Amino acid sequence: MYRDHTCGELNAAHIGKEVKLSGWVQKVRDKGFICWVDLRDRYGITQLIFDADRSDAAIVETAKNLGRESVISISGTVLQRDAANPKMATGEIEILVSKLEVLNPSKTPPFTIEDESDGGDDLRAKYRYLDIRRRPVRNNLIFRHKVSMEVRNYLSKAGFIDVETPYLIKSTPEGARDFVVPSRMNEGQFYALPQSPQTFKQLLMVGGMDRYFQIVKCFRDEDLRADRQPEFTQIDCEMAFVEQEDILSTFEGLTRHLLKEIKGIEIDKFPRMPYEEAMKRYGNDKPDIRFGMEFGELNEVAQHKDFNVFNTAELVVGIAVPGGNAYTRKEIDKLIDWIRRPQVGAKGMVYVRCNDDGSFKSSVDKFYNEEDLQKWAKATGAKAGDLICVLSGDTNSTRAQLSALRMELAEQLGLRNPDEFAPLWVVDFPLLEQDEETGHWHAMHHPFTAPKPEEMDLLESNPGAVHANAYDLVLNGNEIGGGSIRIHDREVQERMFKLLGFTEEEAKAQFGFLMEAFQYGAPPHGGIAFGLDRLVAILGGQESIRDFIAFPKNNAGRDVMIDAPASLNEDQLDELNLRINLQN
Ligand code: AMO
Repeated sequence: MYRDHTCGELNAAHIGKEVKLSGWVQKVRDKGFICWVDLRDRYGITQLIFDADRSDAAIVETAKNLGRESVISISGTVLQRDAANPKMATGEIEILVSKLEVLNPSKTPPFTIEDESDGGDDLRAKYRYLDIRRRPVRNNLIFRHKVSMEVRNYLSKAGFIDVETPYLIKSTPEGARDFVVPSRMNEGQFYALPQSPQTFKQLLMVGGMDRYFQIVKCFRDEDLRADRQPEFTQIDCEMAFVEQEDILSTFEGLTRHLLKEIKGIEIDKFPRMPYEEAMKRYGNDKPDIRFGMEFGELNEVAQHKDFNVFNTAELVVGIAVPGGNAYTRKEIDKLIDWIRRPQVGAKGMVYVRCNDDGSFKSSVDKFYNEEDLQKWAKATGAKAGDLICVLSGDTNSTRAQLSALRMELAEQLGLRNPDEFAPLWVVDFPLLEQDEETGHWHAMHHPFTAPKPEEMDLLESNPGAVHANAYDLVLNGNEIGGGSIRIHDREVQERMFKLLGFTEEEAKAQFGFLMEAFQYGAPPHGGIAFGLDRLVAILGGQESIRDFIAFPKNNAGRDVMIDAPASLNEDQLDELNLRINLQN
């Protein structure tokens, strides 16, 4: 009825054929006697020609007045184009139109629907359905589909069963705040939306499902960034009767498969790095290892001179910026301003120019001689022509600041090549981390992660020293997945909750169901979850996940298209027992 071909399909082989197409008017070019219209659908663009000599005059007139984005249906003959456009799949042909029907006219769109749009972010977000008509956005969504189909096929072939778990649940602690849903039928009570299906997938293992996966929405009320959305999608997986090694090899297999099928890249074995090494070498638990600029710790060679800033610091650490000696004083000052921004938070930066003749010139020449600086160069791997940037302070913040600088410089120097893929397993995470202010222990991954059996004895006496069989998969400096071997023993789970500050009653109220399940034959198990949005964005050569989500939220967590969140009317509030009494 509407079409027998798509707008991306016709080529020289179809010349002379009668065809029917439907789509959107991308552009009208009216040249008097002849008028061309670009007709677009998901598959491509086909050029239509309306010619006063060969077409009905009324049709030519209608064509000339077609508004952009109107939906039309046409019939016509496929002709060879006078001047072929080799850049277009349909560039060899055009359609001489004999019948034209306007199915639905369009208002003038608020921005141009072309590869390079004139619409700003907010406008395009408000009219996201129009933005989706643009090829780059559409291609991202098609790309996402391709990745998720590959994931499904691979996991299904490997024996994983797709099981859906509920969205209306009780809080699962993954470190963020919950989104909650009031229950009309249970006055004053709330469901929480899952931050992940963690406890359910563990219960599926207790239920004997053996290998589970789900491509599933998760909800986290946390501050948003380019790689974070309040609702996002995980490829969530769990396996029974496994050790860490089984999980790493299974999901390395999946990732290798995706890199090969989607990007045509073959990567042999993924390197592994213990968490502590990653922090020491890159100041970060998700290092981008596509480039060097590794940290060189300088305490030994920079302290005990007269420079008090370094003497009082817990850590003095530097990186060598390749070719950085070419930076002007102004450029270096700009870098210093950059690291002083509140988002980075460094107080200042010491730098050393490594001159081509092998000599050095530093911003602290008063305190350090050539021989000292030679040692700094050795520790940071600096060569002639480089610039050494040095930060100091307490270990954690100094590492974070220098890591931010390393990434910024790599970006500036073009070292983060989106066509290069460097996966890395970060392993041996600490089980717990301590809140500096309150002294409370938090699970580094989540409370269901098992301590390494050989360190179990330290759980109460020295909790900070216990490691977990927990692992993250890092791709090009982004955490694309994380998981762990789980506790499957009720007693150990109880000890863990106690360490995390839960009273027995609280643990029972929140997780009694899980601890009870552990008493009915829970198999050893473990798993992992990938962030699908991140994985897709990175495979697509980008780091902002928003462009790979059909209807994303903005930085304030709003959907500006449907204008959510929104207030409820009073009846709804009453029904949900949510009316806020402003007088009291
Ligand atoms: P984790 O909290 O590490 O683990 O999450 C797994 C992966 O999900 C992605 N991710 C996000 N992506 C977009 N927006 C967000 N707000 C967001 N938060 C997380 C990341 C991350 O690596 N239940 C465990 C998994 C397990 O132990 O099996 C979990 O959720 O890519």
